[in-house]
Amino acid sequence: MDKFYITTPIYYVNASPHIGHSYTTIAADAISRFMRLKGKEVFFLTGTDEHGQKILRAAEKEGIGAQEFVDKVVLRYKELWKLLAISHDDFIRTTEKRHKDSVRLVIQTLYEKGDIYLAEYSGWYCTPCEIFWTKTQLDKPVCPDCARPLEELKEKNYFFRMEKYRPWLIEHIRNNQSFIRPVSRRNEVLKFLETPLTDLCISRPKARLSWGIPLSIDEDYVTYVWFDALTNYISALGFGQDESRFRQFWPADVHFLGKDILRQHAVYWPIMLHALGLSPANTVFAHGWWMIGESKMSKSRGNIVDPIEMVKAYGQDAYRYFLLKEIPFGIDGNFSEDLLVTRINSDLANDLGNLYFRTFTMVEKYFSSKVPPVADIDPVFKEKIKNLPIELDKAAEDFNFQGMLSAIWELINIANKYIENSKPWEIYKAGDTKRLENFIYNLVEVLRMITVSIYPFMPTCASSAWKQLGQTKLMEDLNFKNVFTWGLSLPGTEIKKGTPLFPRIEV
Ligand code: MSP
Repeated sequence: MDKFYITTPIYYVNASPHIGHSYTTIAADAISRFMRLKGKEVFFLTGTDEHGQKILRAAEKEGIGAQEFVDKVVLRYKELWKLLAISHDDFIRTTEKRHKDSVRLVIQTLYEKGDIYLAEYSGWYCTPCEIFWTKTQLDKPVCPDCARPLEELKEKNYFFRMEKYRPWLIEHIRNNQSFIRPVSRRNEVLKFLETPLTDLCISRPKARLSWGIPLSIDEDYVTYVWFDALTNYISALGFGQDESRFRQFWPADVHFLGKDILRQHAVYWPIMLHALGLSPANTVFAHGWWMIGESKMSKSRGNIVDPIEMVKAYGQDAYRYFLLKEIPFGIDGNFSEDLLVTRINSDLANDLGNLYFRTFTMVEKYFSSKVPPVADIDPVFKEKIKNLPIELDKAAEDFNFQGMLSAIWELINIANKYIENSKPWEIYKAGDTKRLENFIYNLVEVLRMITVSIYPFMPTCASSAWKQLGQTKLMEDLNFKNVFTWGLSLPGTEIKKGTPLFPRIEV
């Protein structure tokens, strides 16, 4: 069976998750569910990044131990993923033994290979970003990434030879068009690789920072948090331990991440893997940021929106739909509740919700809630139904969620027009039962296909709609191969109309 391995970044547990974090995870969930419907064996990984200075400081601020602190905050992530119907197959925490063992092995291997060496270092350090900058890289002690002041440091540390692998990486990116996506990010990385790479400092002296994974090669040091974190993508598969899962799923098909951490994923990580003799992921996809006005939504800017609040107010499915439909995956977008409400009322309540409600009401009124006999497909649907699975595949290949949803909405719009143009109330009045049966059968069939198509995006509502359609099979057991075959709604099936699936939000 074809496999599909997808990952999200592992999130820092220094604070509660916000909309930005939920975005990557929802996108990964939608594509995972889609791939499962395609019959692929999916492994969807998410998790938390629990070591480093930032986390330790957050724990100290709360006056509790680091482990106690991370054990507490991790629950907020786990609860949020439940609330958002995230269907991950594994949740990795960097404080787990299985992860620590892999990290220690990675360092040991690279050290024995001669790719890790000890050297005295002096430079500037950015604590929030946990990045060293050499004095040659900067003209003033201000972090180029976050614009905060840097601290001066001089100490002995372990370094990973990255520059040595720069020519290989450039070649790899050039030979693999879809390695870094979207293409603008690919160009950005190639540009960055035009200048020599400084070797990566991968250790922190324990005396300065104790909250980390001790180096297997020198117990006086702990592992730099990024070196530790990136390894999660293989440690979760059992790298260096029980490797059956690793052999089945590596290389990852895609790493999803925000553009803020592209360099770590498109430069450090592939070089680490290559040095270990492993292939890099097939694709690293960097999406854009959710902004509030002109600034990125982030804890440090204090402009975060709580996803739990949004789900409470508007529902899980509507929230998921909005994030994936509103902006192209890869581009920045503005978040506001006004936009969210407008989107819900137009696409969900008006277009989709009405289509379900009108159809169910008509089946109830005209055929006592029973699906009429199988009818031929109406010419208005023919072309679209033939194309929809192809359009979905094509857009999914590009991780173009907006495109997938637009393709589905075209069918929804055709169906709504079909109702308006067919004037069923007149057919009913004229007593033309055959025509009315054909008309309703067409709508029920089209709704069956629409329901499966929206399932990856809005799994909970799709599952209720599925039940209302009288279907008994679990949606997660469906396979796209059969869905677009005409005539699968069984005549006589009872439609169980419930409350409207997507009620209008009154402002
Ligand atoms: N722990 C590192 C990642 C290690 S991966 C080996 C980290 N964590 S984080 O908690 O800061 O989360 C970063 C990720 O959250 C981003 O890459 C992105 O996926 C998501 N987002 C955080 N803020 C965001 C927005 N405002 N908009 C969109 N996504 C954002 O970095």
